[in-house]
Amino acid sequence: MIRMNDFTSEPDELRREELVAIEHVLRSGWFILGNEVRQFERTWAKFCSTKFCAGVGNGMEAIELGLRALDIGPGDEVITTSMTAIATVLAIIHAGASPVLADINLATALLDFASVERCLTPRTKAVLLVHLYGQVREMERWITFCKDKKIHLLEDCAQAHGAVWNRQHAGAFGTWGAFSFYPTKNLGAKGDAGALITNSEKIAERVKTLRNCGTVKRYEHSEAGLNSRLDELQAAILSTRINWLERFNWRRQDIARKYLAKIDNARIELLSPPNAEQSHVYHLFVVRCAERDRLAHFLEEQGIETLIHYPVPAHRQGCCQNLRCDPHGLPSAESHANQCLSLPCHPQLHDDDVAKVIATINQFE
Ligand SMILES: Cc1ncc(COP(=O)(O)O)c(C=O)c1O
Repeated sequence: MIRMNDFTSEPDELRREELVAIEHVLRSGWFILGNEVRQFERTWAKFCSTKFCAGVGNGMEAIELGLRALDIGPGDEVITTSMTAIATVLAIIHAGASPVLADINLATALLDFASVERCLTPRTKAVLLVHLYGQVREMERWITFCKDKKIHLLEDCAQAHGAVWNRQHAGAFGTWGAFSFYPTKNLGAKGDAGALITNSEKIAERVKTLRNCGTVKRYEHSEAGLNSRLDELQAAILSTRINWLERFNWRRQDIARKYLAKIDNARIELLSPPNAEQSHVYHLFVVRCAERDRLAHFLEEQGIETLIHYPVPAHRQGCCQNLRCDPHGLPSAESHANQCLSLPCHPQLHDDDVAKVIATINQFE
């Protein structure tokens, strides 16, 4: 089977480095919020060219804590896309604010500008962009828009580790960028982990307080925080894997180039390719097909695993029934959800696997 992810075939050299990092933590006798977390925070902030980073428990809480650090909560609205992992929307709800769901641009599956404009109200405090599938696009436009409207530009970078637009990294364009290091992400831990990057010391410090039960110093809790601490083992593994991130992203981009050049079937629609190579790190390679389920079944029969990101847009989820949406509706998010299919695009994929995926898709009738 050609799988969507295959960690068992990662390079032995990486495995050895991870084992050394794990042993180092075990021997240190310190397991939560210690030197490994501080080291990882420094390294990730530097990698992304921001001044600060706060490691947290997962990507969803990175967003929630980021919003709370800006005092965005009850009575405030945050506009985001309906075509995202549900965690993006839940994080806004958990912060006490109201998500407002906007539609996507079908060429890219990213947030649509006109739709966001229709969602604005005097209560809008931020636009939370999701760099879906690994793409960072049109940042100039979003920066200017948010500046004009005097609202925060926030980035959900859970799928875009290492994506670069105009020499700037995902997460460094707005007030903060939130990352998930769920194991399958381009930079993944061996369990749950997340982080928030920012150029504001105040925001980073507030997130560090909030992630640890609102602790300012031992036995002193300034506000009702979460337990969203990053542990030393995950931080040490992430520090090791940062050194492999660019290599792995290049391989993903190489596979995507082959798919873009060679998938040739009138039944398959490709999303718009990136303007600059580094601006898409292909966490996922997504195509559309009117007969998506039949295509997925056909590929599975030929030994190719696929997944769907996402079959149900957020506004159709039970937990989002009462949320405000674009008054024009979300037709593009719905049609994308009905047709999208993610193909294997992970760094360990062999060239003959890639060739097989292409040949099989081209045979689909
Ligand atoms: C776009 C997006 N946002 C947020 C998250 C949430 O991250 P986590 O699972 O680490 O909470 C994910 C992860 O699935 C994601 O893909």
